[in-house]
Amino acid sequence: MNKKLDPVLSFSEQEEYINLVSEIIKNKYSRPPLAMVVPYGCQQNVSDCERFKGILAKIGFAFTENADEADLMLYKTCAVREHAEDRVFGNIGALKHYKRRNPELIIGLCGCMVQQEAVAERFKKSYPYVDLLFGTHVEHRLPEFLYRLYTKKGRVFETDDAEHEIVENIPIKRDGTFKGWLPIMQGCNNFCTYCIVPYARGREHSRSYKEILKEAREMISAGFKDITLLGQNVNSYYSPEKADDKSEINFPKLLRMINDLDGDFRIRFMTSHPKDCSEELLYAMSECSKVSKHLHLPFQSGNDRVLKAMNRRYTREKYLNLISLARKLMPDISLTSDIIVGFPGETYEEFCDTLSLVKEVQFSALFTFIYSKRKGTPAAEMEDPFTREEKGKWFRELLAVQDQISKQNDVKMSNKTYRLLCDDYGRADGFMAGHTDGNVCLEFKGDTSLLGEFVTVETYIENNSLKAKIKE
Ligand code: SAH
Ligand code: SF4
Ligand code: F3S
Repeated sequence: MNKKLDPVLSFSEQEEYINLVSEIIKNKYSRPPLAMVVPYGCQQNVSDCERFKGILAKIGFAFTENADEADLMLYKTCAVREHAEDRVFGNIGALKHYKRRNPELIIGLCGCMVQQEAVAERFKKSYPYVDLLFGTHVEHRLPEFLYRLYTKKGRVFETDDAEHEIVENIPIKRDGTFKGWLPIMQGCNNFCTYCIVPYARGREHSRSYKEILKEAREMISAGFKDITLLGQNVNSYYSPEKADDKSEINFPKLLRMINDLDGDFRIRFMTSHPKDCSEELLYAMSECSKVSKHLHLPFQSGNDRVLKAMNRRYTREKYLNLISLARKLMPDISLTSDIIVGFPGETYEEFCDTLSLVKEVQFSALFTFIYSKRKGTPAAEMEDPFTREEKGKWFRELLAVQDQISKQNDVKMSNKTYRLLCDDYGRADGFMAGHTDGNVCLEFKGDTSLLGEFVTVETYIENNSLKAKIKE
């Protein structure tokens, strides 16, 4: 992209506002005010919210998950499907009575949904109790927006869409202590015809590899054992800064650099786009011992005509070739994917190509979606002759196929030894849960002292389901 980027406030210029707001809230509240930060949508949003919390903590806020006691609510919205947007409209609608009870409460909205002009307008007009709304390109200016809210009467709406490089040095307050997100890029240049993300998040911008390595080192020394590199399209990562020997740093090189850092940790990444998933990446994955042998590679549709109409820029054959190379290099690799059922004009016969691809590849897990029309995208203008009911029938057929495959996967995974990172409580008392390198969740008998630790388990089948027990 040759477009000259607009200049942007660096985060250091926000420090002044942090200090000013800090003083204001000290005078205004007799205790640290409570913020409730709520992410919807993808992991990128969860990660962005960790930065909002970092900023708010620096200002002097404490945090709550209880809406009744919040002084500030900040919702980070998602626009990827209609259902995601409906949830936000519904939940924000319900906030009216909180505001009535506590007129001092600040209600804020940000994220992909409100970056769309029509949505921002709707909130402005019909939701008078929303005090603050800002788009995806100005999120680092939260301190300045809060300053404006606290010092002037009136609402703050800022949906400037000027593109800029990634703003560094934003404070972070991470949700976890051993599993964490590490964003490596933002935005998307792919314009798949069904997808709102490129409009909501803007063009792709990669972070400097030095900043990424710095953050990875910080996470590792803080005890993180599972680090997921995040981006809408991590395979097209290119560091804006060259290596010391002047070579370019692409995603496979970045993976190798993180893999070389000292420590016992796992590296994951998402999402990969098949058109940019290179052999170089698969070799890097197979050669890096700390990189999980898990590839989330969304194929969306198994039919070439539909893939073309989606502007995915790969074919079924190219996708299957990638899968067979991945399996050749990493025989135990776990594969997952996203699928859209009922893209405009997709016929049942074309959908059957998706089914046959699912049967052929045998994924460990699938994330399946019925097509949702997104205003402003090319697919929204395409003929869409099939009804929601018909698409629902196909969708259930797909789920049933994957259900069978999951049962077979359980059998394949039984009587084996796995190293798990114990990362959650089990469903029953006395049980804990953890993820394998391939990101499969297993439950085993154990106590809470194991949280955040790697454990080795043996698997077996009991009552038709996969179980695990700690290996003595
Ligand atoms: N950048 C990632 C995906 C981001 S969105 C990628 O390209 O793989 C996550 C998933 O939501 C997509 O993979 C797709 O399966 C689904 N999705 C996106 N837009 C959608 C729409 N309009 N309707 C239904 N599903 C959609
Ligand atoms: Fe959307 Fe396609 Fe970009 Fe993924 S690659 S975010 S599906 S436009
Ligand atoms: Fe949703 Fe935006 Fe993520 S649309 S999926 S929050 S990039």
